[in-house]
Amino acid sequence: MPDIESLLKETRVFKPAKEFSRQANWNKKTTAEYRKLGDKNPERFWAKMAKENVSWFAPWKKTLQWKPPFAKWFVGGKLNVSYNCLDRHIEGENAWRRNKAAIIWEGEPGDSRTLTYGELHREVCKFANVLKGLGVKKGERVALYMPMVPELAIAMLACTRIGAPHSIVFGGFSAEALRDRINDAGAKVVITSDGGFRRGAPFELKPAVDEACEGADCVDHVVVVKRTGEETAMKAGRDQWWHELMEGASANCKPARLDAEHPLFILYTSGTTGSPKGILHTTGGYLTHVTTTAKAIFDLKETDTYWCTADIGWITGHSYVVYGILANGATTFMYEGVPTHPGPDRFWEMIDRWKVTIFYTAPTAIRTFIRLGDEHPKRHDLSSLRLLGSVGEPINPEAWMWYHRVIGNKRCPIVDTWWQTETGGIMITPLPGAVDTKPGSGTLAFPGIHATILDEEGKEVAAPNGGLLAITRPWPGMLRGIWGDPKRYRETYWSKWKDIYFPSDGAHKDKSSYFWIMGRIDDVMNISGHRIGTMEVESAIVSHADVAEAAVVGRPDEITGTAIVAFVTPKSGVDAGSALADKVRKQVTREIGAIAKPKEIRFTDALPKTRSGKIMRRLLRDIAAGKEGIGDTSTLEDFSVLAKIRESDED
Ligand code: WTA
Repeated sequence: MPDIESLLKETRVFKPAKEFSRQANWNKKTTAEYRKLGDKNPERFWAKMAKENVSWFAPWKKTLQWKPPFAKWFVGGKLNVSYNCLDRHIEGENAWRRNKAAIIWEGEPGDSRTLTYGELHREVCKFANVLKGLGVKKGERVALYMPMVPELAIAMLACTRIGAPHSIVFGGFSAEALRDRINDAGAKVVITSDGGFRRGAPFELKPAVDEACEGADCVDHVVVVKRTGEETAMKAGRDQWWHELMEGASANCKPARLDAEHPLFILYTSGTTGSPKGILHTTGGYLTHVTTTAKAIFDLKETDTYWCTADIGWITGHSYVVYGILANGATTFMYEGVPTHPGPDRFWEMIDRWKVTIFYTAPTAIRTFIRLGDEHPKRHDLSSLRLLGSVGEPINPEAWMWYHRVIGNKRCPIVDTWWQTETGGIMITPLPGAVDTKPGSGTLAFPGIHATILDEEGKEVAAPNGGLLAITRPWPGMLRGIWGDPKRYRETYWSKWKDIYFPSDGAHKDKSSYFWIMGRIDDVMNISGHRIGTMEVESAIVSHADVAEAAVVGRPDEITGTAIVAFVTPKSGVDAGSALADKVRKQVTREIGAIAKPKEIRFTDALPKTRSGKIMRRLLRDIAAGKEGIGDTSTLEDFSVLAKIRESDED
């Protein structure tokens, strides 16, 4: 992670090109107006956005009801998300969009499908009827565990059509992780597929669902999309094929008239304890936030082909592959597989072939492409691109410059967008036609968002000093709680300062009041832009019979931003070595998923602890990072332990 010192030396400034500003949805003038309104009266600003960008069945009575830390936006308003993403694009004055591509999808093997707004509407209505037929009622949860196939977007929208909150579990999570999430949400139906394609080969998903359902009694039905055609066991009475259910389904399904605060979805994310949190988002505020930000920040136009490379299983996919993009009537491109199959130029080849105009990806991916070499993007015509985005981690200025130069050909504005699962939508970002950018800075808070930097006591930190990022006013896309755990919601986000949201990120501002995000300051690691809790990995490791104790820390990594390092103490009599390291990695894969597998495992006789028995993580972080002069060790219980760890074998 770049430190404050080196970032302060970054002086390059890029002004929006005149031609871009001239055509931008939000030019300098509108942005200035909105910023002024958002600063002075955020409620009025968001009410204006809600009116302009979202269609309501019934207007709200009160814009915001704020009983800290519980917010209600657009109180009394009625709407439906699938109506906003579909129906309003195929009726009335927008009816011409019926035959415009809503989703262009490409599978990894090269097969593709295009769903127009009319077709997507039909599929969504049919699947909504399938869900009803399976007995899903308004308010009942549906779990989705799927690869990146169009059916995932169809299923999400069908859930919103009938008011059944979805809980999407990223396909890379294990059966164990899936079971925990299914149980926590009490999901009645699970939607999955036989598998998908990755790195040129099919992988299975359905067996993990079978395993997860053992011990998830809430599940009545499993719906299976046929994607790979591989042999799949179907449990009679529980499992049914998607295509068979769809065959007889009616394409007429009225969108449910839902309250603005009706639960839209739950999405689990890692925190500082062993169990992930079910972040709850609701209907009206979330849709207003993602629709407005997508329109302003990505400058979505009718002619755009927009591609966000995130998996829909993460918040970025929810907000900016599906909801924010379709609500604007834009074309969203979806890709199933890995960026480097069959060759290192797959992404650039697709951008060229589909003429993608807007490209939104993560710094990890950018750093991987840098390493793969400029010749791959340079082999393809990327002139269709007009805007680039970055999300998920701090982007180092050099990666930003490469993105600007090699992918954007120095023409495309870059929007570095800071936000979280909890914030629902983008919070800190440049506006491409209005805000000067600096490599590595997310620039300014979006209009209507009030962000600042505070110290532990809640005092504002003056530039250029570092401090804690804070959001001082409620915003429409904010989480409404942690599913089933209001206490944890209060403690995690609202207990540091009074009535101020604490995102757990460090940041500082520069002289022009630009934000520079430094990354997580809690025990959450950001691996390739994905949040993994150190505690989750630790509890997975110690669940192995050969392990006595474990401590997990992150260390800087050139490609993935952070890499996981596990310090492991084997039980007495167990040999430390590569065989055990192998078992530990398998255990983590089984408990959480391959994304949480430690990159490095170091065995040690004992972990360094304070007198009160707390593991000294700071020390371990320094050791993992290979720093020489390690900090204050005076509280170490056993000094010999430190020397042992530093000598410990690297696996
Ligand atoms: C980090 C992803 C710097 C941050 C949308 C945050 C970023 C966490 C940026 C949320 C960015 C996200 N610059 N850091 N542009 N975007 N982060 O919930 O640490 O998966 O707290 O949401 O990612 O990760 P999450």
